[in-house]
Amino acid sequence: MKKIMVIGASGQIGTELVVALREQFGHENVVASDVKDTVKEALKGGPYEQVDVMDNEALKAAVNKHAITEIYLLAALLSGTAEKHPEFAWKLNMEGLFNVLNLAKDKVIKKVFWPSSIAVFGPNTPKNNTPQYTIMEPSTVYGISKLAGERWCEYYAKQYDVDVRSIRYPGLISYTSLPGGGTTDYAVDIFYSAKRNEKYSCFLTEKTALPMMYMEDAIRATISLMEAPRDTIKIKSSYNLGGISFTPEEIYAEIKKSKPDFEIEYTPDFRQKIADSWPSSIDDTDAQNDWGWKGKYNLEKLCKIMLENVLDTGINV
Ligand code: SER
Repeated sequence: MKKIMVIGASGQIGTELVVALREQFGHENVVASDVKDTVKEALKGGPYEQVDVMDNEALKAAVNKHAITEIYLLAALLSGTAEKHPEFAWKLNMEGLFNVLNLAKDKVIKKVFWPSSIAVFGPNTPKNNTPQYTIMEPSTVYGISKLAGERWCEYYAKQYDVDVRSIRYPGLISYTSLPGGGTTDYAVDIFYSAKRNEKYSCFLTEKTALPMMYMEDAIRATISLMEAPRDTIKIKSSYNLGGISFTPEEIYAEIKKSKPDFEIEYTPDFRQKIADSWPSSIDDTDAQNDWGWKGKYNLEKLCKIMLENVLDTGINV
C-alpha cells in the first residue's frame, strides 16, 4: 500500500505536487506536510501534518503515524535567500535530507524523491547544452548544498541500497503558488506585472538565458521518475532536465504579443551573478533514455497559460 508524504507542501512545487499525487493515488494516501501551521486551501483535500524536517523525532512520529512508504522532500531555501542566510540554508538543506535518507536506510520508508537544481553547475561548467557529467563547481550556498546532497543520495543508494530519485530542476514557472527567493523567479513575477498592466522591473539583464520549465511538465517528470521501474533509474545522484531556455528579452517579446503596451526595464541585482554562473541550456538525454522523459510546453504555450491564469484562477500564494 503506497502512502506518500510531501515535505515542504506549501511551496511552489509542493502545492501542485500534492494535488497531482492525490488525484493519482487517492486523497487519503498523500499526506501534505510543512513547517507552517496554517494549511493552504489547495492542501485541504487530504491529511496534513505540521512538521519541521530538521526535527528528526517529530518527522519519525509523523511518518509512523501515517505508515508512510514514500517521501518527496521539497523543503529547502532557494538560491537568492540562501545567499542571505548561508548557515541556515546549509543546515536546512542538508539536515532535512539526512533525516529522510536515514528513514530509507533504516527501511522505515521505501522510496525518496529529492530535488536538485541547475544550481549544482558553476562558472566553469560548459554553458550550452550542459551535459549530465561535466565540471561542477557551484559558487552559491544553494548550489553547494545541492551538489553535496546529490553525492549523499548516490552514496546512500550504493552503500545502503536506498531507492532515492532526483531531478536537477530548471527554473519552474507556475501560477498557483509563488516561488520564494530563487534566481529564476523573474520568469514568474513578469506575468504578474503584465497582468496588472504595470511596468516590470527585471532583476536580470535582457540577455541572461536560463533553463526553465512549466510546472505541469515538472510535476509529470517528478511522478514518472518516481513510478519508473527501479532498474531503469541508472543515475543515483540526479538527472539533468532541460525544459526550455530563454532570456528575459525573449519572454518579454512573447508576452508583448498579447499585451502590446507591456513595458520592461532591466535593473540587475545580486542575482545576476548567480544567473551568470548557471547553464543557459541543459542536455537531458539520460532522462529521455532511462525513463522516457519528454516535455510538452514551449515558450509560446507557457506564456499563453500563464497570462490566462495568473491573478485569475487558482491563486493560492
Ligand atoms: N529556481 C531555483 C532558484 O532560482 C533554481 O533551482 O534558486
